[in-house]
Amino acid sequence: MAELAIRGGEPVRSTPFPPRDGLYGDDDLEELRQALEQGTLFRVEGQKVRQLEAEFADRYGAKHAIACTSGTAALHLALMALRTEPGDEVIVAPVTDAGGLIPVVTQNALPVPADTAPRSLNLHADSVAERISERTRAIIPVHVAGVPVDMAPILELAEERGIAVIEDCAQAHQALHRSRYVGTHGQVGCFSLQQSKQLATGEGGMCVTDDDELAARMRICMDKGWIRGRTERAYPMVGQNYRMNELTAAVGLAQLRKLDDRVAVRSHVGGLVRQGIEGIRGLHTPEPRPGDRFTYWFFPVYVEDGTGGHSPEEFAAALAAEGIPASHGYIGQPMHLLFGPVRGHRAYGTSGCPWDCPLAGRAIRYSRDDCPSAEDALAHLVMIAMNEFYTDREAEDMVTALRKVAGAR
Ligand SMILES: Cc1ncc(COP(=O)(O)O)c(C=O)c1O
Repeated sequence: MAELAIRGGEPVRSTPFPPRDGLYGDDDLEELRQALEQGTLFRVEGQKVRQLEAEFADRYGAKHAIACTSGTAALHLALMALRTEPGDEVIVAPVTDAGGLIPVVTQNALPVPADTAPRSLNLHADSVAERISERTRAIIPVHVAGVPVDMAPILELAEERGIAVIEDCAQAHQALHRSRYVGTHGQVGCFSLQQSKQLATGEGGMCVTDDDELAARMRICMDKGWIRGRTERAYPMVGQNYRMNELTAAVGLAQLRKLDDRVAVRSHVGGLVRQGIEGIRGLHTPEPRPGDRFTYWFFPVYVEDGTGGHSPEEFAAALAAEGIPASHGYIGQPMHLLFGPVRGHRAYGTSGCPWDCPLAGRAIRYSRDDCPSAEDALAHLVMIAMNEFYTDREAEDMVTALRKVAGAR
């Protein structure tokens, strides 16, 4: 067996993995030129945001798409459109970005974390069922790393109780679940167009829905609560200024047209690695269900303690020494514990709202016992960076290094 690079051996890979350069080209420049030539960069006067919404909706087979400024804004629009009440509860995923919790708290609603499936970064319906209360208004499953959540049991629970499902697809552009795009299973699908995402415009967000009323309210809330097009100004709801500008949409249009090819690469390379490490003792990575397509924002591996004689942290370090862009743990702990204002109930000054509030239905307290499976999945997670410029060679090197560090023959 070859000596590990971390112990002075020859690394599997001595050249860097392809950087994520070259996302933008002449087609992006042409769209930007057209946007500028309109003489306005305001979405209400220009065509690019409108066009991006139309093409995004078309791509997802959704009736409506509403562009906004970020994935965080998209989730907030969905909650505003649902008209959550202060003190309502929203079931959130433990493995998410801070942007998955902020919109809940901004609505003066209480984030209630549910746990993940065993060895998984994704929500588990059994835990969701346990955490539902009379006050639950919405469930926000996150398709972490482009791996779809098992939606059917969550949708069933929600439907029985009249609870909305908002899918957080920030990391899962164009992922398929049971042959349908993620984002089209629940009432609203929310996307981030932030730079690291499969569709990258620097910042940006998008909501998709088939529900006419939710779409109308999201549109109003995106535009400071204003209904446009009437002779008298009308503000039926409190909104935010979450309006996307024309430059962002111009790049979004060019990027959307390239997205198919790009997610195909992520899917293909991830698939090769998945097959290449099948059966290696101590390593686990999610398996697609029939009709699923993973679009791998990163490649997740659950590493059992002692695999190849390493802890998961040592395993990640050994992989990195082999020249693989690997790291340990992602967010380290569930977001409701990592995000201080939520953990410490410090959202609105010293009031304790929305938790210590007469409008809350029950006291929600957070602790390390909330999500043992998520804690375990994060502690054992080795994440390997992915991008759309990888080739079969990167997949081969990832497999060779994973096998080497795991001590597999
Ligand atoms: C799962 C998840 N939800 C929400 C967000 C928030 O998106 P944005 O950064 O565009 O606000 C992110 C961004 O990283 C995310 O990964």
